Amino acid sequence: MPEPSRAALPIVVLISGRGSNLQALIDGIQAGSLPVSIRAVISNRPAAPGLERARQAGIETRVLDHRTYSSREHFDDALRALIDDYQPALVVLAGFMRILTPAFVAHYRGRMVNIHPSLLPSYPGLRTHERALAERVAEHGASVHFVTEDLDGGPVIVQAAVPVRTDDDPDRLAARVLEQEHRLYPTAVRWFAEGRLHLEGDRVRLDGRLLDAPVRLPDTEPTGT
Ligand code: GRF
Repeated sequence: MPEPSRAALPIVVLISGRGSNLQALIDGIQAGSLPVSIRAVISNRPAAPGLERARQAGIETRVLDHRTYSSREHFDDALRALIDDYQPALVVLAGFMRILTPAFVAHYRGRMVNIHPSLLPSYPGLRTHERALAERVAEHGASVHFVTEDLDGGPVIVQAAVPVRTDDDPDRLAARVLEQEHRLYPTAVRWFAEGRLHLEGDRVRLDGRLLDAPVRLPDTEPTGT
């Protein structure tokens, strides 16, 4: 990956699997629209396909296999030490399938974000697409939020919605939501890198304004705003 400019914000990305959101960030950096530098991609799963995406982009990869740790606390302590070696200004969870300890979350408060495939606060946790279909909701989507001790419950920064179709199945719906994720995450990370986005107490401040509700990316809005 080409050397980013001096102004690029150092970040570390955590993954467990496919890494398509990681790829969206890499694509944004390579397109020159995302002023961050991915110092490392860390996976808790040695076989995560996303590791190869990072290698292809010339990004350092590290594996910290949670199965080799005797407790969640020990794993999180090791993970924190590993992340902090890279001195990131932001930790980006991109499909990182681990419940994090309160101490770990507190350490990164205001500088760790996650992407979740639902319009939070609806459907925290797993199998969000199945649950949205079962409840026949009219719209579904994805959210980027600051990470707090509440699983998928931290203050939401930005969301994008997709209409749910009568002939949807979980895979089709997930694919459309994923497209939105790939717009959302680079947008939110860019806002943070540009110094426009902060966590203040339990609220999100964007461009100097405390948000009453998450920003909604409209269908047509270019991600370059
Ligand atoms: C995404 O749906 C994300 O919202 C969720 O896990 C999935 C990760 O996908 N947290 P990928 O690994 O980025 O392709």
